[in-house]
Amino acid sequence: MLTIKAALSEASAIASDSARLDAELLLCHAIGKQRTYLYTWPEAALSDQQASYFNELIERRKLGEPIAHIIGQREFWSLPIKVNASTLIPRPATEALIEWLLTQSFPSNCELLDLGAGTGAIALALGYEKPAWQITGLDISPAAVALAQENALNLQIKNCTFQVSNWFSAIQHRRYDLIISNPPYIDAKDPHLLQGDVRFEPLSALVAEENGLADLRCIINDSIEHLNNEATLILEHGYNQAGEVRNMLLATGFSDVGSGMDLDGHERFSFGRWRANTHER
Ligand SMILES: C[S@@+](CC[C@H](N)C(=O)[O-])C[C@H]1O[C@@H](n2cnc3c(N)ncnc32)[C@H](O)[C@@H]1O
Repeated sequence: MLTIKAALSEASAIASDSARLDAELLLCHAIGKQRTYLYTWPEAALSDQQASYFNELIERRKLGEPIAHIIGQREFWSLPIKVNASTLIPRPATEALIEWLLTQSFPSNCELLDLGAGTGAIALALGYEKPAWQITGLDISPAAVALAQENALNLQIKNCTFQVSNWFSAIQHRRYDLIISNPPYIDAKDPHLLQGDVRFEPLSALVAEENGLADLRCIINDSIEHLNNEATLILEHGYNQAGEVRNMLLATGFSDVGSGMDLDGHERFSFGRWRANTHER
Protein backbone atom coordinates (compact mmCIF):
# COMPACT_ATOMS: atom_id res chain seq x y z
CA MET A 1 0.00 0.00 0.00
CA LEU A 2 1.39 3.40 -0.99
CA THR A 3 0.33 6.40 1.09
CA ILE A 4 0.46 10.02 -0.08
CA LYS A 5 3.32 10.72 2.33
CA ALA A 6 5.35 7.72 1.13
CA ALA A 7 4.71 8.52 -2.54
CA LEU A 8 5.95 12.08 -2.06
CA SER A 9 9.09 11.10 -0.16
CA GLU A 10 10.08 8.52 -2.81
CA ALA A 11 9.43 10.92 -5.65
CA SER A 12 11.30 13.89 -4.25
CA ALA A 13 14.50 12.12 -5.37
CA ILE A 14 13.90 13.37 -8.93
CA ALA A 15 16.80 15.49 -10.14
CA SER A 16 15.18 18.91 -10.27
CA ASP A 17 15.47 22.10 -8.21
CA SER A 18 11.76 21.82 -7.63
CA ALA A 19 11.63 18.05 -6.94
CA ARG A 20 9.17 18.25 -4.04
CA LEU A 21 6.81 20.62 -5.86
CA ASP A 22 7.07 18.53 -9.03
CA ALA A 23 6.15 15.40 -7.08
CA GLU A 24 3.18 17.15 -5.46
CA LEU A 25 1.87 18.42 -8.80
CA LEU A 26 2.20 14.99 -10.41
CA LEU A 27 0.53 13.29 -7.46
CA CYS A 28 -2.37 15.78 -7.55
CA HIS A 29 -2.75 15.00 -11.26
CA ALA A 30 -2.58 11.22 -10.67
CA ILE A 31 -5.23 11.21 -7.93
CA GLY A 32 -7.34 14.12 -9.21
CA LYS A 33 -7.04 16.24 -6.04
CA GLN A 34 -5.81 19.72 -5.06
CA ARG A 35 -2.49 20.22 -3.20
CA THR A 36 -4.27 20.97 0.10
CA TYR A 37 -5.58 17.38 0.03
CA LEU A 38 -1.99 16.05 0.16
CA TYR A 39 -1.31 17.97 3.38
CA THR A 40 -4.66 17.17 4.95
CA TRP A 41 -4.58 13.42 4.23
CA PRO A 42 -0.90 12.31 4.21
CA GLU A 43 -1.84 8.80 5.34
CA ALA A 44 -4.49 8.25 2.66
CA ALA A 45 -3.66 5.30 0.42
CA LEU A 46 -3.45 5.42 -3.37
CA SER A 47 -5.33 2.75 -5.31
CA ASP A 48 -3.08 0.37 -7.28
CA GLN A 49 -4.12 2.13 -10.48
CA GLN A 50 -3.27 5.58 -9.04
CA ALA A 51 0.07 4.34 -7.73
CA SER A 52 1.13 2.89 -11.06
CA TYR A 53 -0.04 6.00 -12.97
CA PHE A 54 1.89 8.22 -10.52
CA ASN A 55 5.05 6.11 -11.02
CA GLU A 56 4.65 6.46 -14.78
CA LEU A 57 4.43 10.25 -14.46
CA ILE A 58 7.49 10.34 -12.19
CA GLU A 59 9.51 8.30 -14.70
CA ARG A 60 8.65 10.82 -17.43
CA ARG A 61 9.73 13.68 -15.17
CA LYS A 62 13.00 11.87 -14.40
CA LEU A 63 13.71 11.97 -18.15
CA GLY A 64 13.35 15.76 -17.99
CA GLU A 65 9.91 16.17 -19.57
CA PRO A 66 8.34 19.46 -18.40
CA ILE A 67 5.66 19.18 -15.73
CA ALA A 68 3.37 21.29 -17.94
CA HIS A 69 3.63 18.71 -20.76
CA ILE A 70 3.07 15.78 -18.41
CA ILE A 71 -0.06 17.24 -16.84
CA GLY A 72 -1.04 19.09 -20.03
CA GLN A 73 -1.54 22.44 -18.35
CA ARG A 74 0.19 25.57 -17.01
CA GLU A 75 -1.33 28.42 -15.06
CA PHE A 76 -0.87 31.83 -16.69
CA TRP A 77 -2.41 34.99 -15.24
CA SER A 78 -4.36 32.59 -12.96
CA LEU A 79 -5.97 30.96 -16.00
CA PRO A 80 -5.48 27.21 -16.57
CA ILE A 81 -3.92 27.11 -20.05
CA LYS A 82 -3.76 23.81 -21.92
CA VAL A 83 -0.28 23.20 -23.35
CA ASN A 84 1.32 20.70 -25.68
CA ALA A 85 4.55 20.24 -27.63
CA SER A 86 3.42 22.48 -30.55
CA THR A 87 4.47 25.73 -28.88
CA LEU A 88 6.02 27.46 -25.87
CA ILE A 89 4.88 26.74 -22.31
CA PRO A 90 3.70 30.18 -21.05
CA ARG A 91 6.26 31.80 -18.72
CA PRO A 92 5.83 34.04 -15.65
CA ALA A 93 8.10 36.68 -17.29
CA THR A 94 5.38 37.24 -19.91
CA GLU A 95 2.94 38.23 -17.17
CA ALA A 96 5.04 41.37 -16.66
CA LEU A 97 3.90 42.64 -20.10
CA ILE A 98 0.26 42.08 -19.16
CA GLU A 99 0.72 43.88 -15.85
CA TRP A 100 2.34 46.87 -17.59
CA LEU A 101 -0.34 47.03 -20.30
CA LEU A 102 -3.08 47.11 -17.69
CA THR A 103 -1.56 50.30 -16.22
CA GLN A 104 -1.76 52.07 -19.63
CA SER A 105 -4.79 53.67 -21.24
CA PHE A 106 -6.18 52.29 -24.49
CA PRO A 107 -9.48 52.83 -26.31
CA SER A 108 -12.32 51.06 -24.49
CA ASN A 109 -12.97 48.97 -27.63
CA CYS A 110 -9.25 48.46 -28.30
CA GLU A 111 -8.33 46.26 -31.27
CA LEU A 112 -5.36 44.14 -30.26
CA LEU A 113 -3.14 41.87 -32.34
CA ASP A 114 -1.07 39.14 -30.60
CA LEU A 115 1.67 37.90 -32.94
CA GLY A 116 3.00 34.39 -32.30
CA ALA A 117 0.07 33.66 -29.99
CA GLY A 118 1.14 30.08 -29.17
CA THR A 119 -1.24 28.65 -26.55
CA GLY A 120 -3.09 31.98 -26.68
CA ALA A 121 -1.88 32.84 -23.17
CA ILE A 122 -1.33 36.58 -23.75
CA ALA A 123 -4.45 37.11 -25.86
CA LEU A 124 -6.61 35.14 -23.42
CA ALA A 125 -5.28 36.92 -20.31
CA LEU A 126 -6.06 40.28 -21.93
CA GLY A 127 -9.35 39.00 -23.30
CA TYR A 128 -10.29 37.93 -19.79
CA GLU A 129 -9.30 41.31 -18.29
CA LYS A 130 -10.80 43.42 -21.10
CA PRO A 131 -14.01 41.82 -22.37
CA ALA A 132 -14.77 44.83 -24.64
CA TRP A 133 -11.48 44.51 -26.55
CA GLN A 134 -11.39 42.70 -29.89
CA ILE A 135 -8.36 40.43 -29.91
CA THR A 136 -6.80 38.58 -32.83
CA GLY A 137 -4.04 36.02 -32.21
CA LEU A 138 -1.86 34.81 -35.08
CA ASP A 139 0.62 31.95 -35.22
CA ILE A 140 2.48 30.19 -38.02
CA SER A 141 1.80 26.79 -36.43
CA PRO A 142 -1.66 25.33 -37.24
CA ALA A 143 -1.33 23.07 -34.17
CA ALA A 144 -0.70 26.08 -31.93
CA VAL A 145 -3.69 27.91 -33.42
CA ALA A 146 -5.91 24.86 -32.75
CA LEU A 147 -4.62 24.78 -29.16
CA ALA A 148 -5.31 28.51 -28.63
CA GLN A 149 -8.83 28.07 -30.03
CA GLU A 150 -9.40 25.17 -27.64
CA ASN A 151 -8.15 27.27 -24.72
CA ALA A 152 -10.51 30.12 -25.64
CA LEU A 153 -13.40 27.67 -25.75
CA ASN A 154 -12.49 25.96 -22.45
CA LEU A 155 -12.10 29.32 -20.70
CA GLN A 156 -15.24 30.74 -22.32
CA ILE A 157 -13.32 33.83 -23.46
CA LYS A 158 -15.33 35.05 -26.41
CA ASN A 159 -13.46 38.15 -27.60
CA CYS A 160 -10.36 36.31 -28.90
CA THR A 161 -10.03 34.70 -32.32
CA PHE A 162 -6.99 32.86 -33.62
CA GLN A 163 -5.76 32.13 -37.13
CA VAL A 164 -2.72 30.81 -38.95
CA SER A 165 -0.42 33.51 -40.31
CA ASN A 166 3.24 34.08 -41.09
CA TRP A 167 3.53 37.24 -38.95
CA PHE A 168 1.25 39.78 -40.68
CA SER A 169 0.53 37.78 -43.87
CA ALA A 170 -3.12 36.95 -43.00
CA ILE A 171 -4.16 40.51 -42.09
CA GLN A 172 -2.83 42.44 -45.06
CA HIS A 173 -4.57 45.82 -44.71
CA ARG A 174 -5.80 45.83 -41.12
CA ARG A 175 -4.60 48.25 -38.44
CA TYR A 176 -4.69 47.86 -34.65
CA ASP A 177 -4.56 50.05 -31.51
CA LEU A 178 -2.13 47.68 -29.86
CA ILE A 179 0.22 44.99 -31.17
CA ILE A 180 1.88 42.64 -28.71
CA SER A 181 4.33 39.86 -29.42
CA ASN A 182 6.49 37.36 -27.60
CA PRO A 183 8.37 36.12 -30.68
CA PRO A 184 11.28 33.65 -30.88
CA TYR A 185 14.37 35.57 -29.69
CA ILE A 186 17.00 33.04 -28.60
CA ASP A 187 20.27 32.71 -30.48
CA ALA A 188 20.64 29.22 -32.01
CA LYS A 189 23.99 28.81 -30.21
CA ASP A 190 22.65 29.73 -26.75
CA PRO A 191 23.63 26.90 -24.33
CA HIS A 192 20.34 27.35 -22.43
CA LEU A 193 18.65 25.53 -25.32
CA LEU A 194 20.25 22.32 -24.02
CA GLN A 195 18.86 22.70 -20.49
CA GLY A 196 15.53 22.18 -18.72
CA ASP A 197 12.08 22.57 -20.26
CA VAL A 198 13.24 24.26 -23.49
CA ARG A 199 14.67 20.93 -24.70
CA PHE A 200 11.06 19.80 -25.12
CA GLU A 201 9.74 22.96 -26.80
CA PRO A 202 9.86 23.49 -30.59
CA LEU A 203 12.80 25.51 -31.90
CA SER A 204 10.29 27.37 -34.09
CA ALA A 205 8.96 28.97 -30.89
CA LEU A 206 12.37 29.79 -29.45
CA VAL A 207 15.11 30.51 -31.96
CA ALA A 208 15.66 33.41 -34.33
CA GLU A 209 18.53 34.38 -36.62
CA GLU A 210 20.77 37.47 -36.17
CA ASN A 211 21.67 36.51 -32.57
CA GLY A 212 17.96 36.11 -31.84
CA LEU A 213 16.94 39.54 -33.19
CA ALA A 214 15.62 38.65 -36.68
CA ASP A 215 11.94 38.16 -35.79
CA LEU A 216 11.92 41.18 -33.47
CA ARG A 217 13.34 43.28 -36.32
CA CYS A 218 10.83 41.92 -38.83
CA ILE A 219 7.88 42.63 -36.51
CA ILE A 220 9.08 46.17 -35.72
CA ASN A 221 9.60 47.00 -39.42
CA ASP A 222 6.30 45.56 -40.66
CA SER A 223 4.17 46.68 -37.69
CA ILE A 224 4.04 50.30 -38.89
CA GLU A 225 1.76 49.20 -41.74
CA HIS A 226 -0.63 47.75 -39.14
CA LEU A 227 -0.71 50.34 -36.34
CA ASN A 228 -3.28 53.11 -35.99
CA ASN A 229 -2.15 56.61 -35.13
CA GLU A 230 -0.98 56.71 -31.47
CA ALA A 231 -1.00 52.89 -31.31
CA THR A 232 1.44 50.92 -29.15
CA LEU A 233 3.80 48.08 -30.07
CA ILE A 234 5.11 45.97 -27.18
CA LEU A 235 7.63 43.15 -27.54
CA GLU A 236 9.03 40.57 -25.14
CA HIS A 237 12.75 39.87 -25.65
CA GLY A 238 15.79 38.34 -23.94
CA TYR A 239 17.30 39.87 -20.77
CA ASN A 240 20.25 41.28 -22.77
CA GLN A 241 18.36 42.54 -25.84
CA ALA A 242 16.55 45.62 -24.48
CA GLY A 243 19.09 48.14 -25.79
CA GLU A 244 19.05 46.68 -29.30
CA VAL A 245 15.26 46.48 -29.39
CA ARG A 246 14.90 50.11 -28.21
CA ASN A 247 17.38 51.16 -30.91
CA MET A 248 15.38 49.31 -33.57
CA LEU A 249 12.16 50.98 -32.38
CA LEU A 250 13.76 54.43 -32.42
CA ALA A 251 15.36 53.86 -35.84
CA THR A 252 11.96 52.85 -37.24
CA GLY A 253 10.40 56.10 -35.97
CA PHE A 254 8.62 55.03 -32.78
CA SER A 255 8.18 57.59 -29.96
CA ASP A 256 7.91 57.15 -26.18
CA VAL A 257 10.24 54.18 -26.43
CA GLY A 258 11.03 52.37 -23.17
CA SER A 259 11.49 49.00 -21.50
CA GLY A 260 10.02 47.17 -18.54
CA MET A 261 11.34 44.57 -16.12
CA ASP A 262 10.33 41.11 -15.07
CA LEU A 263 10.15 40.08 -11.41
CA ASP A 264 13.89 39.30 -11.39
CA GLY A 265 14.70 42.90 -12.34
CA HIS A 266 15.74 42.14 -15.94
CA GLU A 267 14.59 44.37 -18.79
CA ARG A 268 12.43 41.82 -20.59
CA PHE A 269 10.08 43.88 -22.76
CA SER A 270 10.23 47.08 -24.78
CA PHE A 271 7.56 49.30 -26.28
CA GLY A 272 7.00 52.32 -28.45
CA ARG A 273 4.16 54.50 -29.72
CA TRP A 274 3.50 54.99 -33.42
CA ARG A 275 2.57 58.58 -34.30
CA ALA A 276 1.45 58.06 -37.89
CA ASN A 277 0.86 61.79 -38.44
CA THR A 278 4.55 62.52 -38.02
CA HIS A 279 5.52 60.01 -40.72
CA GLU A 280 4.77 59.96 -44.40
CA ARG A 281 2.96 56.86 -45.53
C1 LIG B 1 7.99 32.43 -27.79
S1 LIG B 1 6.55 31.64 -28.46
C2 LIG B 1 5.29 32.64 -27.68
C3 LIG B 1 3.99 31.93 -27.45
C4 LIG B 1 2.98 32.74 -26.60
N1 LIG B 1 2.70 34.03 -27.18
C5 LIG B 1 3.51 32.94 -25.19
O1 LIG B 1 3.89 34.06 -24.84
O2 LIG B 1 3.51 31.96 -24.43
C6 LIG B 1 6.61 32.24 -30.11
C7 LIG B 1 5.46 31.80 -31.02
O3 LIG B 1 5.69 32.43 -32.29
C8 LIG B 1 5.30 31.53 -33.30
N2 LIG B 1 6.00 31.92 -34.55
C9 LIG B 1 7.28 31.68 -34.91
N3 LIG B 1 7.53 32.19 -36.14
C10 LIG B 1 6.37 32.77 -36.56
C11 LIG B 1 5.98 33.45 -37.75
N4 LIG B 1 6.84 33.64 -38.77
N5 LIG B 1 4.72 33.91 -37.83
C12 LIG B 1 3.84 33.73 -36.82
N6 LIG B 1 4.14 33.07 -35.66
C13 LIG B 1 5.40 32.60 -35.54
C14 LIG B 1 5.70 30.15 -32.78
O4 LIG B 1 4.97 29.13 -33.43
C15 LIG B 1 5.38 30.31 -31.28
O5 LIG B 1 4.08 29.84 -31.00
